[in-house]
Amino acid sequence: MPTLADRDHAVLWHPYTQMQTAPLPVPIVRGEASWLIAEDGTRYLDGISSWWVNLHGHAHPHIARRVSEQLSTLEHVLFAGFTHPTAVELAEQLLELLPQNQARVFYSDNGSTAVEVALKMVLQYFHNHGQPERRTFLCFRDSYHGDTFGAMAVSSRGAFTQPFWPLLFDVEFIDVPVPGQEDVVLSQLDAVLKRPDVAGFIFEPLVLGTAGMVMYSPEVLSKMLRRCHQQGVLCIADEVMTGFGRTGPLFASELLTEKPDIMCFSKGLTGGTLAMGLTTCAAPIYTAFLSDDKMKALFHGHSYTANPVACAAALASLELTRSEECTSQRQRIESAHAAFRQEIENQPGIRQVRHRGTILAVEYDPGEGTSYFSRLRDTFYQLAIDSHVVLRPLGNVVYLLPPYCTTNEELGLLYTVLRRIRELVLNHIPAANLPEYLHD
Ligand SMILES: Cc1ncc(COP(=O)(O)O)c(C=O)c1O
Repeated sequence: MPTLADRDHAVLWHPYTQMQTAPLPVPIVRGEASWLIAEDGTRYLDGISSWWVNLHGHAHPHIARRVSEQLSTLEHVLFAGFTHPTAVELAEQLLELLPQNQARVFYSDNGSTAVEVALKMVLQYFHNHGQPERRTFLCFRDSYHGDTFGAMAVSSRGAFTQPFWPLLFDVEFIDVPVPGQEDVVLSQLDAVLKRPDVAGFIFEPLVLGTAGMVMYSPEVLSKMLRRCHQQGVLCIADEVMTGFGRTGPLFASELLTEKPDIMCFSKGLTGGTLAMGLTTCAAPIYTAFLSDDKMKALFHGHSYTANPVACAAALASLELTRSEECTSQRQRIESAHAAFRQEIENQPGIRQVRHRGTILAVEYDPGEGTSYFSRLRDTFYQLAIDSHVVLRPLGNVVYLLPPYCTTNEELGLLYTVLRRIRELVLNHIPAANLPEYLHD
């Protein structure tokens, strides 16, 4: 009898996976709070909220109930010429919570499409205003905004996108203003803003996720937005990862004194239940599309735009996120991370520890230049799996981004894995010896 993993291997093609060499996938049949349960009953602690989407734990009964009710009421309706209660309700609630300048909500399917919509809003804003020559985007050199073509173009020119480089439109890259580099980056920004054709600045606010949880301050970002605004450049906050409480406040942009013009959301939006993207914008952007001329409309849409079931999941997740219980869960994780950081930060084998909200990243010092593809990355991954913990190291950076319901005891297990990785780095233990090492 072939196993589920064998059957998978015969027919499926997984994302971000070299199918020839990757081990067989772990077959997961059930989820329960912070745990994923495999076909053979093995339990894995989800330390990264399944690619940063799952906020409240797996198979949450409140979200499941709301989704089930919606499924038997209205599962879908096209969103051009029609509307429905959950789409309106979700937009109303979000606009109440977002920075005050955000005035309109545009639905799409995932983080990449939320970014595509934002880029199109910026370009067509200038087009509709008779300034089509303003079409250059400014981005962080190490950023990641998704895998569709526009999103790839405004992301780092890294190994993931190399086959497509000739087709990606040109952008202006500047460095990330990490502590100590703020003035250098502000000068880079000033130099780029001298160009008359800069249209938009897109950024991951406060934390660049895929770059390795690289963090920078709200103060320097506010200064950057102010300088962009002085030159009429529109600013896009990509909150696909940082949204819905990850960095402490509900949205990272809450910490900015200068607000973005456009915001992108996905991932935690539905609490990890269904794929949905959302782009919001300030009133002047929306009004630039209003005209007697039909051609000034935003010609973008997806079959599943504002799917009622996804909207219901988002409403249920938002209700949980805004509850007192969730606020105190997030504070508890934040304090536990801070204490662990203190313990580990100046120890041998550690290059840097970064922490904001419920995100903790440990950059190990393996004594060699590492990259996403380093052998160590796979060793760290395997060590975590062998400890029944799901982590996805980014090269020599191992981060935690747990569901908010993760208990102190479960956090303890995550920290134990991070400590073991440090011992491994210090002792240069070869990958082949890992199982014995783990059963000490
Ligand atoms: C900041 C950011 N933007 C956009 C995306 C793309 O989202 P999706 O994978 O849903 O297309 C990601 C995904 O990791 C992200 O981290």
